[in-house]
Amino acid sequence: MSTPSQQILSMGFGFALSQSLRVVAELSIADLLAGGERSADELAEATRTNADALYRVMRLLASEGVFREVSHRRFVQTELSAALRSDLQSSPRDFIRMINGEAFQAFAQLSYSVQTGKPAFDQVFGAPRFEWLGAHPEQAALFQRGMIALSQGSNEAVADAYDFSASRCVVDVGGGHGQLLSAILARNAHLHGVLFDLPSGIAAARTAAGGPLPRSELVAGNFFESVPPADTLVLKKVIHDWDDERAAAILRNCRKAMASNGRILLAETIIPAGNDPALIKAIDVTMLAVPGGLERTESQYAELLSLAGLRLERVIATKAPISILEARLA
Ligand SMILES: C[S@@+](CC[C@H](N)C(=O)[O-])C[C@H]1O[C@@H](n2cnc3c(N)ncnc32)[C@H](O)[C@@H]1O
Repeated sequence: MSTPSQQILSMGFGFALSQSLRVVAELSIADLLAGGERSADELAEATRTNADALYRVMRLLASEGVFREVSHRRFVQTELSAALRSDLQSSPRDFIRMINGEAFQAFAQLSYSVQTGKPAFDQVFGAPRFEWLGAHPEQAALFQRGMIALSQGSNEAVADAYDFSASRCVVDVGGGHGQLLSAILARNAHLHGVLFDLPSGIAAARTAAGGPLPRSELVAGNFFESVPPADTLVLKKVIHDWDDERAAAILRNCRKAMASNGRILLAETIIPAGNDPALIKAIDVTMLAVPGGLERTESQYAELLSLAGLRLERVIATKAPISILEARLA
């Protein structure tokens, strides 16, 4: 059992693990090991890297179960490292590359966010996260692929948990790659869909990485200006990117776009009270430092909705760690 000091020291080295994951993800090491055991020298030759350095990075990861060293400097794939393969439909590889890229650099200035309450990202990169992505198409495409990986299971869970029989047209606001809309349309043959996002999100949806979008339109726009009209507007993991003022502005535009008997569905992970470990608490601090948003409790969502002239009607649990907050006109 390690002492409290040792545990704290070990936590303080979290960056070594996350950046090592990023390096092997960038080098596609899991793809190279898909064919069987390889030595660090072989892997280094294939990736044009330094064999001793690559070995040391892989030895660290193997200590956490990502790869396994079976004999001196020879590695095999494990269940964890196999999750980094690029041929999986939604590989965490892209998310690891994305979050440990610009987001990691913003995190180096986390104390700025704590002092000011503002996103360090803007300070480090000179522009807000989504504006910056708009000017960096390669990183924007990686961001969208990363979102697919982060959404594993949750799109299906949201589509399964909500009864869309009273809906005719669903707009997925900030729907990105379109995976949620694809899952909703696959389950509801009567629905027409609209995928609405910035041009970078629409470009991702056009690659069909998020799945087929039959009976749909793809609309590029800015939700701070307006949102396409519908009886049902879905926003999954959109509101958490924004502080209350901006989130309320988006929701007001959604309210204007919504039919009077319509509904707005927020699909978000409600932050739990208490000290239990939860990934959403790390995501919350990431929201602080990177886009400038926050994860919220149920009552924070209810208050936010009321700022936009909406009322929280009910909260629907899903089989994934994400809930549906159904809102109506107040
Ligand atoms: C965290 S992602 C969530 C994507 C998707 N709903 C999901 O659950 O995977 C936030 C989305 O909001 C989009 N977005 C950001 N700012 C926007 C704006 N001003 N207007 C429209 N979409 C925007 C981003 O492009 C991105 O696709």
